[in-house]
Amino acid sequence: MRHETMQNSDPSTPSTPRLDAAKADMMAKTARCQAMTEDREALLFSGMRANLLMPHPIYIASGDGAHITDIDGNEYIDTVMGFGACVLGHRHPDVARAIQRVSGAGWHFGIHSHEQMPLAEMLHEAIPCAERILFCNTGSEATAYAMRAARTFAGKEKVGIFDGYWHGMHDYCMVTPARDGTNTRPKGQDISAGVPKAIHDLTVPLAYRNRVSLDIIREKKDELAVVLIEPVQHSNPQPDVVDFLREVQDVCRECGVLFLLDEMVTGFRIAYGGGQERFGLTPDLATLGKACGGGLPIGVVAGREDIMRTFVGDDGTTPPVFAGGTFTGNPMSMAAGAASVAYMRDHREIYGHMEEQGNRLTAAFNSHCTQHNMPLHMSNVGSMFHIYFQGNPVYSSFDIDEQPLAAAKQAFCLHALNLGVLISGGDKYYLSAAHTAEHVDRMIDIFTETLSLVREDGLL
Ligand SMILES: Cc1ncc(COP(=O)(O)O)c(C=O)c1O
Repeated sequence: MRHETMQNSDPSTPSTPRLDAAKADMMAKTARCQAMTEDREALLFSGMRANLLMPHPIYIASGDGAHITDIDGNEYIDTVMGFGACVLGHRHPDVARAIQRVSGAGWHFGIHSHEQMPLAEMLHEAIPCAERILFCNTGSEATAYAMRAARTFAGKEKVGIFDGYWHGMHDYCMVTPARDGTNTRPKGQDISAGVPKAIHDLTVPLAYRNRVSLDIIREKKDELAVVLIEPVQHSNPQPDVVDFLREVQDVCRECGVLFLLDEMVTGFRIAYGGGQERFGLTPDLATLGKACGGGLPIGVVAGREDIMRTFVGDDGTTPPVFAGGTFTGNPMSMAAGAASVAYMRDHREIYGHMEEQGNRLTAAFNSHCTQHNMPLHMSNVGSMFHIYFQGNPVYSSFDIDEQPLAAAKQAFCLHALNLGVLISGGDKYYLSAAHTAEHVDRMIDIFTETLSLVREDGLL
């Protein structure tokens, strides 16, 4: 019974000669992963399983630079990169040294430690809007705190969110804008069970890269506390977003609505100063995490002094906005983050490198698809990339066709894995500073070989 699950009994999984051979290869070289799946699935819930389109999950034993190695000893070029957190690659020596140092001094006190200031000072300098900083442990906490501060400061309760976003796991992010028939105005739709109905009343669904959103913000300005937007959506990294971002920023200013950039992925990735630096934006608040923790858990709220003072209450806010938790600002995350940010600050050349490699990968992939008349394409902004299994261009998430080439996508991920590139099927892919030109050449070779295999099997 358990075995059937591992053999991938999903009827939507195609069976074709080359894919069956790749599956057999993967099964043969991942016996330990297979055994662990049997033990694990009886005990442990794993949200990631559904994301990995392969016969069974692989479990990672180690990572180094651009590579990860599974518990069977197979090495892959990684494109998950800790869900975007590992901008410097895995196990960067400066970060490893910082972790080692803190592990010799004690790593959890609850109350403040001296490790917090160096990172706070660097973030203050790096992030244009960061007049004040607040630490927490995850990006979800950061967006929850930022919304709470925005509501307090603005004296209004609603939050505007765009389709295609991800801002974290808390209830205030669980109503997503969904296409409402032919109407360009999206409706709110639950993306989880257990979300209170009241969240719908507090969410203003907005259409990404659609000027109708500017009208909606104007119409709702008396109720809207804040509008959240990613400078580049990690689910849909499109290069030409700056005009829309500026329009949203301007209309928020005009309407007295706070403008929050969620830089969880883009911070320290698409530029040292994130989307604010790259696109010349001046948000009221920004949320960060991922890269500025060096691969350890972190969340950051940064923003205008007057808004951030609501956290302290010295502006007369009674009670102040609550923020805090057991592991907030813990020494390990602070030290790893400081080592990571210091390296990025002192090696700005990594941004040109990631940009060049991301552009090269995308150009090669797209030119192969065009040349061979394959209906799919890649888009990237620097080191963030996405493969769309559809030919028609994507403007917003509403243009992403649900399952046009689902079988081809499954086959692509499996072949690529078998050939040595981990493409998770989760649609959000990253290069890092550790991905060299040679890694990217290898990825181009593997992707083109993979596309040929998928086509030969008639799935493309
Ligand atoms: C843009 C954005 N905001 C918020 C979050 C939530 O961060 P976390 O997973 O650390 O809670 C994520 C996570 O991927 C994200 O990409």
